[in-house]
Amino acid sequence: MKFEAVRDHLKDVPYMGVDEGWELYNFIIKNKPKTILELGHAHGASSIFMAAALDELGAGVIETVDLKAAEGRSPNLEALAAELGLKPHIKISREINSYTWFLKKKIEEQTKENFCNPIYDFCFVDGPKNWTIDGFAFFLTNKLLRENGWILFDDYKWTHSKHVGRESTDGITIRSLGEDEINQAHIELIFKLLVVQCEEYSNFVVQDNWWAWAQKTRTGSRKVRYTKKSI
Ligand SMILES: C[S@@+](CC[C@H](N)C(=O)[O-])C[C@H]1O[C@@H](n2cnc3c(N)ncnc32)[C@H](O)[C@@H]1O
Repeated sequence: MKFEAVRDHLKDVPYMGVDEGWELYNFIIKNKPKTILELGHAHGASSIFMAAALDELGAGVIETVDLKAAEGRSPNLEALAAELGLKPHIKISREINSYTWFLKKKIEEQTKENFCNPIYDFCFVDGPKNWTIDGFAFFLTNKLLRENGWILFDDYKWTHSKHVGRESTDGITIRSLGEDEINQAHIELIFKLLVVQCEEYSNFVVQDNWWAWAQKTRTGSRKVRYTKKSI
């Protein structure tokens, strides 16, 4: 499916904008991942941009996970996928508590003789932007990501301070966080302290100070490149 067709259909759907949708669509057209894991789909805009690219390529599936509570959003991903005929490319899961539990089940499924067989070529992390949940999600996702696969984190500079005054965001009670936890960007910390320091990864790119990319290969550059351009 052509980009223009989904762009027009998603015009009023939060959260992914046209520019980011275009980046994601092109990344998929260029890299041709067969299996994609998405952590956090909300209404499904990002899932639809990716599914449209897979459809254009003629193959591939996105497994995407959110909270059960997100099912009632309008529009929801089921409706968008049906309207656009993209259902064959999207497998939706919803968890009561967290996508870390979905990842637990996937690792169990993939484990044979004490080894977890990786299954994903690309993983897009766009959930609560929280050190505890997303740091652990990186550890779990790493087991499922194939060699040479890419991981992308959204919200590199996002902080919990955005939601001070709210009781909780994505299940995280804001008033239970220390001041430094509220004011530091957790995805940036996860990227710098966990991803970049993990020897299995290289080719690190921070794009527009908002998206952080890493490739699961030991042979690329270990420097972090900060850029406004596509990877
Ligand atoms: C920013 S939205 C995702 C936006 C979507 N990727 C897009 O660009 O259109 C973040 C989503 O993460 C979900 N989420 C937050 N914490 C989660 C968790 N622990 N497990 C699963 N989903 C979670 C929320 O329900 C929300 O829908």
